[in-house]
Amino acid sequence: MRAMPQLQRLRPDHAPALLVFERQNRAYFAASVPDRGDDYFAHFGARLDALLAEQAAGVCLFHVLVDSAGEVLGRVNLVDVADGSAELGYRIAERAAGRGLATAGVREACALAAGEYGLSGLRAATTLDNAASRTVLARTGFTPCGEVELGGRPGLRFERKLDDEQGRRLP
Ligand SMILES: CC(C)(COP(=O)(O)OP(=O)(O)OC[C@H]1O[C@@H](n2cnc3c(N)ncnc32)[C@H](O)[C@@H]1OP(=O)(O)O)[C@@H](O)C(=O)NCCC(=O)NCCS
Repeated sequence: MRAMPQLQRLRPDHAPALLVFERQNRAYFAASVPDRGDDYFAHFGARLDALLAEQAAGVCLFHVLVDSAGEVLGRVNLVDVADGSAELGYRIAERAAGRGLATAGVREACALAAGEYGLSGLRAATTLDNAASRTVLARTGFTPCGEVELGGRPGLRFERKLDDEQGRRLP
């Protein structure tokens, strides 16, 4: 049995493994979510520095799922942190799909959000045709709260209230 990858706060030293993850899965992700664009890959270091500066300012909380070899298998991000709430986003490497990684990573991020980050709720959105993502949200306690269009496709908005008793802190 494989060891479960660890959810870690994004740090500058994750950069090389993160770039490999984004490059290797670019086409796979683009089938479900908007492509990041050529500029993202051409200026990866500078973009990452800007995101880490936003993280330092408390606007975003980025996490990577890292395996025992240091490879990035997924990302779980909380963005637009304001008024006790944030927007959840996630993506898992194609080669690690269907093993429950997104479900486990989102559960962990919810516990951190309630404990470490002191948030009282999370929001998310997915397209109607993203069955895997809808399964993940349903399993992790999110409920639909409205319709939305995402990149020209019909989608649903979700929300989840957080209970600070379910919270946990980073080791
Ligand atoms: C959505 C995504 C994060 C799911 O990651 P994952 O680690 O494979 O998810 P999990 O294994 O935790 O759970 C997925 C569940 O959905 C199910 N599923 C997968 N594809 C499915 C499909 N086409 N129809 C129905 N169910 C599906 C899986 O079987 C699994 O359920 P199971 O455990 O009962 O088998 C991943 O596919 C991904 O990164 N996709 C591209 C980016 C993206 O869509 N991000 C989310 C944007 S809202």
